[in-house]
Amino acid sequence: MADDQEQLKRQVAAAAAARVADGMRLGLGSGSTVNLVVAALDQRVRDGALSNLHIVAASSRTEAAIVKIGLRPDTLEKYPELDLAIDGADEIDPQFVMIKGGGGALLRERIVLAAAAARLIVVDESKLVPMLGVAWSVPVEVVPFGWRVSERGLRALGARPVLRTRAGVPAITDEGNYILDCAFGMISDPARLAALIAGGPGIVAHGIFVDLADELLIAGRAGVEIRRRTASS
Ligand code: 5RP
Repeated sequence: MADDQEQLKRQVAAAAAARVADGMRLGLGSGSTVNLVVAALDQRVRDGALSNLHIVAASSRTEAAIVKIGLRPDTLEKYPELDLAIDGADEIDPQFVMIKGGGGALLRERIVLAAAAARLIVVDESKLVPMLGVAWSVPVEVVPFGWRVSERGLRALGARPVLRTRAGVPAITDEGNYILDCAFGMISDPARLAALIAGGPGIVAHGIFVDLADELLIAGRAGVEIRRRTASS
């Protein structure tokens, strides 16, 4: 990550951590920005501002980061309703629809965001796009048993699916599935595409997140901008 982008992510992570109140049931997504949120929370714990948090993490990576700062991750079984969820995104359009799953945690991220009363998305300004699909493919989590069938279905929807690999073998998600990264080109109707993808065989989750962002914190050269979702956005 370029130093500048890292700096922007740090800024927005600190602004997000400042929103966390003691006693909150907090959902944390996954990714490098969320890791910086964990570091900023650690600082607030050390400063004595926070002493009692119930954190549910959306990935094993975030869970490990929480454990590393001496906190114990909680579960959705114990806290199925969260006060706030904080997560990053790969792309966000003007209607606050996102592509997520660059880090492969899309399934659990969707669940954690859906469990929260308020959803705060933390990004640097490079993630804002006029239309989804500009730079990112849509990650689709599929059951290994039938991934070739899922792949065929996605191709029929117009995608160019590529099986995500790590060290030459299929990357495995925290839930034991594969990911197909699907380039669709520019996505003019993300809600429609999301419904079509979700209906395919063997599809467990996809990275088009509709209605799962309430507020954006956007780090840019001029500081951190706040955008709240309105009826028209
Ligand atoms: C992981 C995600 C992340 O939120 C997304 O990839 C953004 O990551 P980063 O904060 O590293 O830019 O969806 O599945």
